[in-house]
Amino acid sequence: MRGRRALARWHHGEPRSAAIGAAAVFRRKTACWLTCDAQRCASHATDGGQVARKQSPARGRVVLIASPKGGVGKSSLCRSLLVSAARQGIRCLGVDLDPQQTLTKWHARRERVRQTYPECSEVPVLAVPLADWRAALKETGNVDLLVIDTPPSIEAQYGATLSLCAAADIVLVPTGATQDDVDSVTPWMRTLTGADIRSSFVLNRANRRVRSYEAIRTKLLQVGALCPVEIPLLEDIHVSAGKGLAVPDFVKAKAAETFDALWAYVVREAGIRVPAKAA
Ligand SMILES: Nc1ncnc2c1ncn2[C@@H]1O[C@H](COP(=O)(O)OP(=O)(O)OP(=O)(O)O)[C@@H](O)[C@H]1O
Ligand SMILES: [Mg+2]
Repeated sequence: MRGRRALARWHHGEPRSAAIGAAAVFRRKTACWLTCDAQRCASHATDGGQVARKQSPARGRVVLIASPKGGVGKSSLCRSLLVSAARQGIRCLGVDLDPQQTLTKWHARRERVRQTYPECSEVPVLAVPLADWRAALKETGNVDLLVIDTPPSIEAQYGATLSLCAAADIVLVPTGATQDDVDSVTPWMRTLTGADIRSSFVLNRANRRVRSYEAIRTKLLQVGALCPVEIPLLEDIHVSAGKGLAVPDFVKAKAAETFDALWAYVVREAGIRVPAKAA
């Protein structure tokens, strides 16, 4: 009952961290009440989701991209991961939970490009209201990978977002490298780690040459895991997105190795199965 009481306390205005910490304890001890999915519950009841990966080989993996801060690169990261996956022959689906439909509009542009260049990998995208996240998760029965893009205003639908995070194999939290970014994303990361949800910051628009770089990295590492691959400020990212493409579409792109490394990290962390011929 401790977790349920904690959730009720949170609904009645108590601090989220206290409520969620107790909820995590409850979830570890009982069947899943957040996701109604026993196999995924197992992934969060043990360190790192290894059990779930062994127990549910047939189910597609879920990579969720969520950050309370707007404009930090959520949709961009989503696009690049989807293209990396599609290029390796992985059956993937982008799920667009953002009412602004950035990912859906990108997909429409991509489909137009594919009419002229059919060799451009197909990346299906499904637009779903955040409230219907459970329906979106059912797609894991049809594809090997869901990459889910979320709106910036996750506080507005906090319960749904957190339940969705609990059902993901990994939650990626893109962030810029400024103090404002740190202020915004660290409480969110504390919430995720407090609820035992596998998660990782991804530093975007990183510039190793500036003095603040190491200080910001240290602040992020103090609260959560940090993806060892960071994304630099790159014109290619927004220029390619405007054409329905992403950097991994270009084998010879300047940053191709960065995106290959990022994809390799996500494959390992989320337990994504890569077809033998592509590995
Ligand atoms: N590393 C980068 N280098 C250059 N441009 C970038 C980079 N990352 C993102 N952008 C550009 O910045 C803009 C915002 O990025 P994006 O849409 O991915 O952020 P978001 O977090 O999804 O935003 P929102 O919160 O509004 O959904 C886009 O035009 C994108 O192309
Ligand atoms: Mg977006």
